[in-house]
Amino acid sequence: MRVVVLISGRGSNMEALLEARLPVEFACVISNKPDAAGLAIAARHRVPTAVVSHRDHPGRAEFDAALAEEIDRHRPDLVVLAGFMRVLTDAFVRRYENRLINIHPALLPAFPGLDTHARALAAGVKLHGCTVHYVTPEVDSGPIIAQAAVPVLSGDTPATLAARVLSQEHRLYPRVLRWLAEDRVRLRDDGTVAVLTDNAAAEHEALVSPSD
Ligand code: GRF
Repeated sequence: MRVVVLISGRGSNMEALLEARLPVEFACVISNKPDAAGLAIAARHRVPTAVVSHRDHPGRAEFDAALAEEIDRHRPDLVVLAGFMRVLTDAFVRRYENRLINIHPALLPAFPGLDTHARALAAGVKLHGCTVHYVTPEVDSGPIIAQAAVPVLSGDTPATLAARVLSQEHRLYPRVLRWLAEDRVRLRDDGTVAVLTDNAAAEHEALVSPSD
């Protein structure tokens, strides 16, 4: 499975993917920002990198077309958004239908969009987490492949909560990529996803928060 990863910044999720010894080939890491820290991390892992700067293009459509052109040069089976902070056009999303995935730092459909950790704290939820999903034209709303939940603890700040979620993102995203590489992910006609795993052990599990 040939994979192209799109980033905009730090690249810690991309790094977790590159370090996970997955049965995939990382064909390229592409950033829309020339100064993204993740580019150096990719280079250290000897993964080819490219920059397609949104500033070099007059509008979203032109940027997305240039981005698609760069992506397609690498003939990916899967395009992975890992902290890619640009809203994509419908045309772009349709071009990569069913082979474009994203990680979002909340338990969707709760808290789509930005500032998820502050919003989770403000809402007083006791469980928060992250979601890996297929990308559809509406932001943060595509078919959910997998989620990881963490407790929200009293005394949490957006930063402490973000760190707790991020460490789960780094576990969840490689796992999903492995399932995809092993052809264990099925998108159903009703828009939900089935992952072919042995879930028997999980049947009686619960993460309860607060716990005592
Ligand atoms: C992560 O929290 C991810 O869920 C969100 O943006 C952040 C990117 O962090 N989409 P990194 O660049 O992977 O370190």
